[in-house]
Amino acid sequence: MDKVAELDKLQNEMAGDKSLPLKTNLVFGEGNPDCEVLFIGEAPGFNEDQEKRPFVGRAGQLLRKNIRDLGWQERDVYITNIVKRRPPENRDPLPEEIENYKPYLARQIEIIAPKIIVPLGRFSMNYFLPLAKITRDQGKLFEMNGLFILPMLHPAAALRGTEALNMFEGTFKKLPAALTKVTSGKLEEEKEITTPEKLKLENVQSKLF
Ligand code: URA
Repeated sequence: MDKVAELDKLQNEMAGDKSLPLKTNLVFGEGNPDCEVLFIGEAPGFNEDQEKRPFVGRAGQLLRKNIRDLGWQERDVYITNIVKRRPPENRDPLPEEIENYKPYLARQIEIIAPKIIVPLGRFSMNYFLPLAKITRDQGKLFEMNGLFILPMLHPAAALRGTEALNMFEGTFKKLPAALTKVTSGKLEEEKEITTPEKLKLENVQSKLF
């Protein structure tokens, strides 16, 4: 599949979809469509709307620094958001906005087919793991319908205090090991369904580490 062409097609379709809520600039996402790691945030903010690029403000700088600190290149990963237009006053995305943008994100994920998805913050995490709690479940690797998910705090939350920053950076450092785990094929033996509480999360959500 020509991923670049498929993504271009999807972007054009979104640009022409008048039924989508929010009328600010479309911030579709950027990076390598053949990436192993896909980062997904909530929605663009002021700077992202201006530049039509995801995560270019203060939170974005923290995200991008952590990517580079792993020895990776920003252009090797892919970065996007669930809601691809800026909500007014940078408010949280509304449930109906998330709902309307979801089918496009689903198709974007299908085209990119990453090895690991990193949802940033609770809105993005709950798209994949509806019952998960961000402070409890960030940093755990989940398998969900064949996708591997490693939720992290939103980098904007990490900028609000030392404890959150340490949590964010600590989880970031686990990313290469998580990637090795999912690509090594050794997963089956290690797979475990955790506590009864976790089991309640849904049968399909199994913690891998
Ligand atoms: N916050 C997000 O969730 N996404 C961006 O692109 C920027 C800030």
